[in-house]
Amino acid sequence: MSLPPHPGDTPHPDDVPALADSDAPAPKPRKPEPGSTDGPLTPSADESQPAKSGSGSQTGASTSGFDTMLGKKILAAGLITEDELDQCRVEAGEEASDRTLSDLLVERHLMTDRQLERLRKEFEASKSSQKIPGYRIMKKLGAGAMASVFLAEQKRLHRLVAIKVLPRRFSEDQNFIDRFYKEGRAAAKLNHPNIVQAYDVNQAGDHHYFVMEYVEGETVYDRIQKRKRIPEDEAITILIQSAKALHHAHEKGFVHRDIKPKNLMLTTSDQVKVADLGLARNLEDTEAAEQEKGRAYGTPFYISPEQIRGELTIGPAADIYGLGATAYHMVTGHVPFSGKNPSDVMRQHLKTELKPPDQANPALSSGFCQVIEMMLAKNRADRYVSAADLVTDLELVSRNEEPRFAKPKFDLGQLAVSVSGPNEPTELRAAPKRSSGNTSPVFVASIVLNVLLLATIVVVALLK
Ligand SMILES: Nc1ncnc2c1ncn2[C@@H]1O[C@H](COP(=O)(O)OP(=O)(O)OP(=O)(O)O)[C@@H](O)[C@H]1O
Ligand SMILES: [Mg+2]
Repeated sequence: MSLPPHPGDTPHPDDVPALADSDAPAPKPRKPEPGSTDGPLTPSADESQPAKSGSGSQTGASTSGFDTMLGKKILAAGLITEDELDQCRVEAGEEASDRTLSDLLVERHLMTDRQLERLRKEFEASKSSQKIPGYRIMKKLGAGAMASVFLAEQKRLHRLVAIKVLPRRFSEDQNFIDRFYKEGRAAAKLNHPNIVQAYDVNQAGDHHYFVMEYVEGETVYDRIQKRKRIPEDEAITILIQSAKALHHAHEKGFVHRDIKPKNLMLTTSDQVKVADLGLARNLEDTEAAEQEKGRAYGTPFYISPEQIRGELTIGPAADIYGLGATAYHMVTGHVPFSGKNPSDVMRQHLKTELKPPDQANPALSSGFCQVIEMMLAKNRADRYVSAADLVTDLELVSRNEEPRFAKPKFDLGQLAVSVSGPNEPTELRAAPKRSSGNTSPVFVASIVLNVLLLATIVVVALLK
């Protein structure tokens, strides 16, 4: 299965113009976000006009500012005569022209794309650093549905930070800004080695921004893309750290509500950092809950059934489901439910039975499959009661022991097949693959059924 484009892969051209997209590809019209069919995370289609863009015009920033600086620079460097520059400027300024000065300079071989790109980065960086006092913007790290994230140097402390900047077009939306500040405040209350540390939330001009720990490395999503499947032991290590981070957040009264591979970052030494508490909400914040009631926030591939239903009380179980869907994706190479559109995916989260992960990847241990299936139970009461219990099970499974909380799933139909005879095809998937001292319910039930069967045969024989 191929993944649909991830939200944020195509930043809006209007996104953070001053800080803009120094190394981002030419902006394209934005596609609707899967799963965010309403709410502030979905810009309307008419907000998605592509910026004028040519060979060298790679930003949504005002090209005229860049072109003015560019003209001065190349003139000073003696790369172009004043006449040549004037000619290009006139042509670029013509009404019918859809080319910028940069395009013309490249077209006439007066500059290469590379030189242009380097200048553009310098330009954007110097412009940006004026916009956020105390920080020097270095490059763009990525963009999500809500904002763009930049790498920056915090000048006074000489440290690298990541700055999430809210696009200007959202600044008018008070609700959205409130959510943005809420993320900052929520994250600031959390302090854990596996959670991206929040440093500051503030405003500069029209832009609201959130400064946080810079995580040098990649996201779990990047790793899945690179490796297709993550081996069980590596996945368990990632999950244990993520579950510990979640337990900490839950204990402080916060639910992340958007756990997904893109929000699990991995440092270069493979330490997990849970990022993006953008949808975080205090469990006691009933007013915010009321406002969001009935809206399906979150990302559809990893969203819990109760979030889809827009239930009022979204608790830790929702994060456990999100982590379960992430675990499934990591070890099978695909998401638990895929579909032709977000509502199809969401419908399946609600109704479709999960295909056991070891059907997609037979190398998985049954204990680990049981854990993933329990995380992904449709009914939240059937999931782990807490992320701490999940850690317990994951640690047991990592030591090749039976999980304590997750139990093998079995249905009587399969059981009937298993007792009907050795020649019949039996696929009792839930039976543990590893031998263990524990007696599984499947084993007990099959003994009971066999005894009953034998007793019936004996009684029938005696009656004859
Ligand atoms: N603290 C950080 N350090 C380094 N890179 C980061 C950091 N936070 C985010 N990023 C990068 O920026 C990208 C965009 O992050 P953002 O949280 O805005 O969106 P997302 O999580 O990818 O998607 P969505 O908006 O749907 O949650 C991430 O995918 C990641 O690559
Ligand atoms: Mg994120």
